[in-house]
Amino acid sequence: LTTHFTLPSGDKIPSVALGVWRAEKNLVGTAVKAALNVGYRHIDGAWIYGNEHEVGNALKANGIARDKVWLTSKLWNTFHAPEDVEPTLDESLARLGVEYLDLYLIHWPVAFYKDGKKYDRELTANPYPTWQKLEEMVEKGKVRNIGVSNFNIPRLKNLTANPLKVKPAVNQVELNFWNPQPELLKWSKENGILLEAYSPLGSAEQVKKTLAVPEIKEIAAAQGMTPAQVIISWHVQRGSVVLPKSVHCDRVKENFQVAALPQDAFDKLEKAATSHAPQRVVNPSKSWGLDFDVFDD
Ligand code: A2P
Repeated sequence: LTTHFTLPSGDKIPSVALGVWRAEKNLVGTAVKAALNVGYRHIDGAWIYGNEHEVGNALKANGIARDKVWLTSKLWNTFHAPEDVEPTLDESLARLGVEYLDLYLIHWPVAFYKDGKKYDRELTANPYPTWQKLEEMVEKGKVRNIGVSNFNIPRLKNLTANPLKVKPAVNQVELNFWNPQPELLKWSKENGILLEAYSPLGSAEQVKKTLAVPEIKEIAAAQGMTPAQVIISWHVQRGSVVLPKSVHCDRVKENFQVAALPQDAFDKLEKAATSHAPQRVVNPSKSWGLDFDVFDD
């Protein structure tokens, strides 16, 4: 099973990362240390998760060399205005205690005004001014690669219709057994954009149900793997980076032990995942009071 994917920059991104969304305060640092100890070299975080300082302290305590670990962060919605991008990035860098990020993503395709009221329609419809700032951050050496998160195909087409200097290298999306997004995966591959799977075991409330899917249990038993390992391996085999979150050291370790599934097992799982109606859990459009659905085509 591939341990890395190669981005257009030539950088090699480790295929399995520790995700730290909803990783609880005072637990996330221990999880990061446990992850580094069992071989993870990729931590996926974001400004909004509120735990970059603890992640940074764990990296420092571990003493891992900066160039041996892949660090991703994300620009929050309130900072899409071009003048806000660099100060926000600087804040993430300071909290993490590093001089550069390996990957910086636009977290959502929605540009909030800072007062939390409504959103900037123009910048939301075309985030090119935000993107140009990210390109500048690449030029300055503050980030090595840039990408997006929670973008659908029309939004990516829209962004890439601008005269970009640097194309989005990745798109991080909800991707799991219940929402496998085969069309997005296919289109992304054809267009040289790597998908990254958040909530890869299903969103927190779905995890139990996912681990009990008969096909997954069957494959796990046959391969001598746990159901979680089967699913995480399936993601990598589909060609996406996978970001399992856990703050439990035993699970952190379990989730890193991936292996290629035999083709027939992979096909069986792919078929099971894609033969029910897709179910997306993460969609904040309503709770943000948007008058559109962020994922609508
Ligand atoms: P925990 O951190 O308590 O281990 P998300 O949607 O944020 O990716 O959520 C993933 C959920 O799955 C978390 O609640 C995490 O809980 C749980 N989890 C992660 N790895 C495993 C595993 N190997 N077995 C069971 N649950 C897991």
